[in-house]
Order: sequence, then C-alpha cells, then structure tokens
Amino acid sequence: MSTDVAADLEVHPVGGLIGAEIRGLDLSSDHPDEAYAAVRRAWAEHGVIFFRDQHLTDEQRERFALRFGQIRTKQQLRKEPDQTRNVGESWHVDMTCFDEPPIGTMLFAEECPERGGDTMFAGMVPAYRDLSDGLKHTLVGMRAVHANVRKLGMGYENTSPPEPSVAEYDAAEGVLHPVITRHPETGRNVLYLNPEYAVRFEGWTRRESLPLLRYLFDHGGKPEYCTRFTWQPGSIAFWDNRQVWHLAVNDYHGMRRVMNRILLTGTPPVAANTP
Ligand code: SIN
Repeated sequence: MSTDVAADLEVHPVGGLIGAEIRGLDLSSDHPDEAYAAVRRAWAEHGVIFFRDQHLTDEQRERFALRFGQIRTKQQLRKEPDQTRNVGESWHVDMTCFDEPPIGTMLFAEECPERGGDTMFAGMVPAYRDLSDGLKHTLVGMRAVHANVRKLGMGYENTSPPEPSVAEYDAAEGVLHPVITRHPETGRNVLYLNPEYAVRFEGWTRRESLPLLRYLFDHGGKPEYCTRFTWQPGSIAFWDNRQVWHLAVNDYHGMRRVMNRILLTGTPPVAANTP
C-alpha cells in the first residue's frame, strides 16, 4: 500500500463495547493488501465495522468482499411500502443452522427509509465475559442444536410464521455447535448461541433447555452489549458472524428500504476448551 493509504485509514469506535467506523478508505478503488489487513483487524477487534458514503457498483462490492473470503451468496433485501415483515427482524446470527455458517456479512445501503430501518448488533464476546465463572464452566464443553424451526427467510413477507410446537423443536435435527467458541482471530471466548437458531442443548429436551436459553438470550441482548447503526445510501456494515448477533429494526412501514447483501463462506465454529 502506499504508506499514505495506511496513514489515512482511521478506526473510530462507535459503541461502548462493540462497533467501529472506518474512515479514510475509498472503496471504489482497490488498495494494497495492508489496507485490507488493517480493516480485517478492526473487524475482528470490534465485531462490526461501518463505512459511510461508499456508492459502489456491484463489481466494486464484490471486489471488496473477495478481499475477506469467498462469496457464498449475493442478494438484494427489499422491503416495499406495502410489506409489513422485514428480513431478520429478531436477534439472530446468519445461517447457524448450517455446519459452516458464513463468517461475515456485508450490507450495502442502496435506498433508505426517511427515518427508521436501523440495524442493531450485540457483542457476544462481552456477553460471555460477564457471565459468572460457574456458568462459564458449565457452558464450556456443551453443544447446542441449531435449526431453522421458525422457517426464517422462507417467504413470510406479510404474515408471521406459525409458532412451532415443542414437539417440532424436539424433533428438529439441525446441526450441533459448541455453546462457547474461541474466536479464531482474536482468541477470545464467545457466547455462540442465538435466539433464532439455537433451539435446545445437545441431549436436553426443548423444555429442559428453555430456562437457560432464555436467560442467555436475555443476557446477550442487554443494551450495554449493543450498538445501533442508522443507514444512509452508501453506508456499509460488515459484521463478524462468529461474535455478533444482529437485528433489522422493523419500524418504517409505508417506506422502502433496499439493501445489497453479501454473505461470505464459512468455517465450522471452534469450541473453546477452557473458560
Ligand atoms: C440481515 O438480517 O441480514 C438483514 C439486516 C438488515 O437488513 O438490517
């Protein structure tokens, strides 16, 4: 990189515990590897990073994404004025119902509502850190079943999906992920459960699992672990699915919101061996 690009890149933390805005990097042109290495460090360190005023073509978005991994899917998320549901309107992590969930997601704002339509993020590194030693010891070594029992993303644009029965939760096969993972880039422990996909603990029934799951979901969504991003056309959020939850706030009925999303390919989450 020209040393100038390195010198111009600024990382400004935006939340108390997670989130940072990156300034001084124009993503409409390519940059030497060192620039992306600095962005990647900020991403792993802060869990989610934001850029402003980056009006990119499809090709430029793809080029940026490919600097961080392979592309798993590219799609447009669109909510029209007559729609009432929003993709991702409750806390979740993208696709943990798969063995290799996407390591990261990029969202590029194309058209934003006049107001509302923010995205919230919650950091599962600080959420893990604040658990008691006793609970940390209990959770390390446990695994949870992740399954798409509520059929997220399966065509409920204007109605809520039916609430599944306890029997459906018990029967869901899904995939197993460690409850506490070790982040491969920072070495930090992460509370790797999310309210959308983690449906029960391995070997436990749904009813047995629910009290502890509810406790951990309430804990993870506490305001101090969260940051909230207000979009403008040209804004980008790039979050690390290995350590943050996210939620698209559905408070802009009657207005249009159009976002371009790129999901990177994933790797299997790695269990933490010690608290
Ligand atoms: C998502 O859940 O990936 C979408 C988030 C958003 O539209 O803000």
